Amino acid sequence: MAHQLLKGKKGIIFGALDERSIAWKTALTVVAEGAEIVLSNAPIALRMGKINELAALCNNAPVIAADATSTTDLETLMQKSMEATGGKLDFILHSIGMSPNVRKTIPYTDTNYDNFHKTLDISALSLHRVLQAAMKTDALNEWASVVALSYIAAQRSFPGYNDMADAKALLESIARSFGYQYGFAKKVRVNTVSQSPTVTTAGSGVAGFDVFFTYAEKMSPLGNATAEDCANYCATLFSDYTRMVTMQNLFHDGGFSNTGVSHLIVEEIQKANKVDNI
Ligand SMILES: NC(=O)c1ccc[n+]([C@@H]2O[C@H](COP(=O)([O-])OP(=O)(O)OC[C@H]3O[C@@H](n4cnc5c(N)ncnc54)[C@H](O)[C@@H]3O)[C@@H](O)[C@H]2O)c1
Repeated sequence: MAHQLLKGKKGIIFGALDERSIAWKTALTVVAEGAEIVLSNAPIALRMGKINELAALCNNAPVIAADATSTTDLETLMQKSMEATGGKLDFILHSIGMSPNVRKTIPYTDTNYDNFHKTLDISALSLHRVLQAAMKTDALNEWASVVALSYIAAQRSFPGYNDMADAKALLESIARSFGYQYGFAKKVRVNTVSQSPTVTTAGSGVAGFDVFFTYAEKMSPLGNATAEDCANYCATLFSDYTRMVTMQNLFHDGGFSNTGVSHLIVEEIQKANKVDNI
């Protein structure tokens, strides 16, 4: 389906852990669309070694470690990426998220605040750090596009999502606030894509994931958007066809966010009620 939509463009893809990662699919898609990329992830994730398989599939893309909570790492990454690709960049995918509270199944009402700080630092402030590092090193061309991945728990409560909900709300706010600054400063655009539940390492770690994956599938007129669908959407956002879109949270969820209840959910409840009444 490639259209060379990103021919001549260069960018950084953060967060490809394994073949299920949204970033993994996005890396393959943007390269198929003609882009040249640098892959980055936290040093510990790189030690798993999987990313080198992806790099080989992406025209031997350079792999550069950066902890998204380290300003130094990110500034070095920006410099090295410009050196590796021979110029400034046109897009960045921020596909980074982690909550120690979710990992350790610590309830939201009994949160560990050190963990909570880490959640916010890794999953939200990291977007600010990436943008600040890009601005300081003047790493982005005019009209460059930065996309971060979000989830609807930023607007509505999904109890199992825990402190990641607060992190996503902050992430979306940073996209607006920095998008304003970077837009006026350099016509750089910043958006978040609010993606359907997707079976990945980060996604499946959320309590009750299977149930709300099925619930969202039944609620969404188009069904859940897959990681491949998300990759395609990100490619359009990196392209010149969306150059006036900035500071937005864009729902990519098969219609879930605008559905009150679906007939499929109603039927499920009716069925359950009938069983209860027997
Ligand atoms: N899977 C879903 O259901 C879903 C839905 C909506 C949004 N998202 C978001 O999509 C993004 C990608 O997640 P995914 O589902 O592909 O899962 P994933 O687990 O494959 O990706 C998460 C990535 O974050 C990286 N990361 C964690 N700590 C880091 C750090 N300190 N520095 C740099 N990188 C770090 C991990 O190494 C990993 O590559 C996340 O922001 C996630 O919240 C996921």
